[in-house]
Amino acid sequence: MILVEELKKSYGELRAVDGISFEVLEGELFGFLGPNGAGKTTTLSMISGLLKPDGGRVMINDIDVWQTPKAAKRILGLVPQDVALYEELTARENLRFWGGLYHLSSSELKSNIEKWLDRVGLTDRANDAVSKYSGGMKRRLNLAAGMIHNPQIVLLDEPTVGIDPQARNNILEIIREIAREGVTILFTTHHLEEAETLCNRIAIMDHGKILQTGTVDELAQVVGDGDLVNLHGSFSPAAFKSALTGLSINFINIADGSAKFSLAQNGANISVVIQKLSEAGISIEDLSMEKPSLESVFLKLTGRELRD
Ligand SMILES: Nc1ncnc2c1ncn2[C@@H]1O[C@H](COP(=O)(O)OP(=O)(O)OP(=O)(O)O)[C@@H](O)[C@H]1O
Ligand SMILES: [Mg+2]
Repeated sequence: MILVEELKKSYGELRAVDGISFEVLEGELFGFLGPNGAGKTTTLSMISGLLKPDGGRVMINDIDVWQTPKAAKRILGLVPQDVALYEELTARENLRFWGGLYHLSSSELKSNIEKWLDRVGLTDRANDAVSKYSGGMKRRLNLAAGMIHNPQIVLLDEPTVGIDPQARNNILEIIREIAREGVTILFTTHHLEEAETLCNRIAIMDHGKILQTGTVDELAQVVGDGDLVNLHGSFSPAAFKSALTGLSINFINIADGSAKFSLAQNGANISVVIQKLSEAGISIEDLSMEKPSLESVFLKLTGRELRD
């Protein structure tokens, strides 16, 4: 279990993490979804004891990470966003190095190394220098290095960033397996689809704050249960909104000439919307419908689209 309360970190004027609180339950696969600079890595660094918070508290099971860091370190694994491997060492040597930091017995270390080489599919290449590895292989070894002491709780910082779809699926499958074994996982990503298919619950983060937390279904409530309408034409946001006054409309995003919104299922239908716009002298150039998605939730909460 990970419990974070009012965690804060600033760099000068910049509030990289701005008083966030959340809980990851035992055995949960919890996703942190946010664009570049949202504060994901800063949060994980504070949870793992690498970066001292300006304020707040982090509990790992019942251990306070900042009061008893050594005890926390034993049950916690971190797989960093930037691959942390020695290029000139082989995979096996890298795992021996990282495993050596955890005071495991030599037989335990040896069996963990072989286990993790096998689980990430690198046994055959274990004696090759990492400098000869592909990007996907380095990501897999990086994952093995963070898991080498078989932690009960693991922080995965964008474990699939910068690799091709096949290598990504491979890593996602390993993560699913780790989760099935009951390991508690906090996982950060820019990929909506990854968060959607992998996680039990998701926190959407932007500008150092958690905007919303929930299961995919709970998050979807932010945009309502009706279909979303994408509309293009010539209008200002103010004129558009004023033309539709009185209708029960959930605006997801609105800008000059484009609007995205949802209609409550038992509210006004699209023909009423079109009629009202026409009465207000607003011409429509293009209209399309889409199903509610995590992408529209993200757009509604942050005002931005999340792109890879
Ligand atoms: N050491 C540092 N000194 C100054 N500013 C920093 C430092 N580390 C992070 N920041 C800033 O803090 C903010 C949050 O950064 P962080 O790396 O936590 O974001 P992130 O969500 O992990 O982004 P990404 O998806 O790009 O990895 C950013 O604006 C970043 O520029
Ligand atoms: Mg990051």
